[in-house]
Amino acid sequence: MSTQLQNTSARKVTTRRLTEMKQRGEKIAMLTAYDYSSALIVDNSGIDVILVGDSASNVMAGNVTTLPITLDQMIYHAKSVIKAAKRALVVVDMPFGSYQGNPMEALASAIRIMKESHAEAVKIEGGSEIRESIERILSAGIPVMGHLGLTPQSINKFGTYTVRAREEAEAAKLIEDARMLQEIGCFAIVIEKVPAELTAKVAAELTIPVIGIGAGPADGQVLVMHDMLGINQDFSPRFLRHYADLATTMHDAFASYVADVKSSDFPSPAESY
Ligand code: KIV
Repeated sequence: MSTQLQNTSARKVTTRRLTEMKQRGEKIAMLTAYDYSSALIVDNSGIDVILVGDSASNVMAGNVTTLPITLDQMIYHAKSVIKAAKRALVVVDMPFGSYQGNPMEALASAIRIMKESHAEAVKIEGGSEIRESIERILSAGIPVMGHLGLTPQSINKFGTYTVRAREEAEAAKLIEDARMLQEIGCFAIVIEKVPAELTAKVAAELTIPVIGIGAGPADGQVLVMHDMLGINQDFSPRFLRHYADLATTMHDAFASYVADVKSSDFPSPAESY
């Protein structure tokens, strides 16, 4: 791939710029990436935030849930993405088991992510139950993005990936958690798979950006790269818009290559030395 793709002139997106975007009513576009080559293309597309999501556990490693991915593996993916991202703000997911134990463990994990990958912020799933951990991370000057609603690391507690916070009590807790995350200093919050009305309410009240996924209109949106590119054909929830059918494109390219090799059409004299 040509390194001319590298976006060298663009002004870097910061957490502060995201707040300004919300104030101006400018929507924030966020997408996941896990490797250098894809992140280079994503960064050049005008994306504001690249999330090195723990969805790498699913789409890169083939696990059924996000739980198995380790801190070392997240740092490996983050290091590759950071090298490519010249404009976008890079946020790295704190993986399951790296922050729930106690605030000092959470701080140590966040510091490892920042120090070893050179990431610019971390994302962490949960509300009041992990408040102290988030506060400890923030106290070290590490920007934190919250994540409420459907939090995939808790799938074994939920038992299903269905829409969260339809019930009043859960919706009320989400609102309280969102207020708390803003109050303690998070720079943004992802809200996943909740009714659009609830997202709109939270986004209207908070001054920090609310980024939705399967949660209706918000200050911005995030999708998993492999899902929106149509690489993972088995995943087609209602909230997902496919922007490409890469599974078909890649399959057809691979099949053509196989046919060309088998028929000795490849390599041709022009492709030989
Ligand atoms: O890991 C991830 O990709 C995420 C997004 C779904 C928000 O957390």
